[in-house]
Amino acid sequence: MCARILFVDDDPTALLTFERIFRRLMHDTVTAKNAKEALDILKSSPPFHIVVSDYMMPEMSGDILLQEVSRRWPDTRRVILSSYADKDLLLNAINIGGVHRYLTKPWDLQELLTVIEELTTEYDNAERDRNSTKETDNKNHQLATTNNQLEESINLRITALQEYQHQLQKSNDQVRLYERAEALREDEHTLRKTNESLRFFSRELENRWEEEKNALARDIHDELAQSLAVIRLEISSQLRSTVDVKNLDNLKEIKKHVDSTAHSVKRILSALRPQILDEFGFEAAVIWIAGDFQNRSGIRCDLSYDIPTPVSKETSNCLYRIIQEAQTNIIRHSQATAANISLCQRNKRIYLKISDNGIGIQKTGPNETRSFGLIGIQERAMYYGGKCAISSNDDGGTSIEVEIPNS
Ligand SMILES: Nc1ncnc2c1ncn2[C@@H]1O[C@H](COP(=O)(O)OP(=O)(O)OP(=O)(O)O)[C@@H](O)[C@H]1O
Ligand SMILES: [Mg+2]
Repeated sequence: MCARILFVDDDPTALLTFERIFRRLMHDTVTAKNAKEALDILKSSPPFHIVVSDYMMPEMSGDILLQEVSRRWPDTRRVILSSYADKDLLLNAINIGGVHRYLTKPWDLQELLTVIEELTTEYDNAERDRNSTKETDNKNHQLATTNNQLEESINLRITALQEYQHQLQKSNDQVRLYERAEALREDEHTLRKTNESLRFFSRELENRWEEEKNALARDIHDELAQSLAVIRLEISSQLRSTVDVKNLDNLKEIKKHVDSTAHSVKRILSALRPQILDEFGFEAAVIWIAGDFQNRSGIRCDLSYDIPTPVSKETSNCLYRIIQEAQTNIIRHSQATAANISLCQRNKRIYLKISDNGIGIQKTGPNETRSFGLIGIQERAMYYGGKCAISSNDDGGTSIEVEIPNS
């Protein structure tokens, strides 16, 4: 075990002896003849394992020198080697110089060697501890740095994940919206198809209903109207041949009833099937229906008709039924004193407007679940390829405007 030892003594013989002994023992031995020289050596070539100093020296005593050594190189072991074994000096050396050992001159070589060996071991152990502490500190520092880096990268990863989650959420929302839009589109498609089927069904129903009404009208006409005509003829013949005044009055009364019944049958027939349409055409039928409305309701009805070409059977039928429904509404709901029907044609399209000067459609009026008249008008116009608008007039009444092709 090789140590660096500095011997300080104002006695050159002692220094020579130390040098000789310890160099032989392979220790790196340096000597100084006073405290100042010792401090210079310590400053210029540290570190030393051990400083062995004499106590009594000129200018600076050993305890003061070792105090300075302890302050500046605390790891260096400090030994006093003194000719004095005084108790106060010993205490000073311990308290001021912080010495590790106190030996007396003349020294016991064995004891000195043992002390040097012990202190060298102490120094090396302390040095090892210091190195290992330094190493631990370094490792701790490295660990802390790695930890920080890890934490930073984890934080970055968390932020990236959060961003990713956010994007995912957004994409999810978009997918949900897209699915909802798709579902709505499908619903709309189904609704459109259902609507078309309903329209088709409604038109079929309307045609069947018209056929039924035609058949009924035919039966009434053939059975009832013919029978009434026969009865009327019979009564007329009886009237001519009867001379009994009482019988004559009875027969006249019966004829009146038969005439009135015949009139009613005619009215029912025209409601069931506007025969006039088939027999005299659309214009005549409209003129008749306007007059009949005025007679029945007492509401004045003006008519303007400007359609130069014949109107097809289907279109006539549709317009005739619309006028009928509108007139029924005017009588039932409008409290009007006057109504107007106008018909004209532009570019093969017929424009019908029926208006009245009544109270108009009241907001609370229409019972949407049970009223079918206006809906029927709209539906009719639509399935004949036209359109319909129902509005209030400026003067408060109601207007129904229909536009359909003259197909
Ligand atoms: N010319 C009008 N003047 C004032 N109100 C009207 C007129 N036409 C319709 N209305 C109002 O609009 C409602 C709907 O009319 P719509 O013809 O659809 O049904 P409705 O006549 O009540 O019953 P129905 O199904 O037997 O025709 C009527 O109940 C009435 O309140
Ligand atoms: Mg109605």
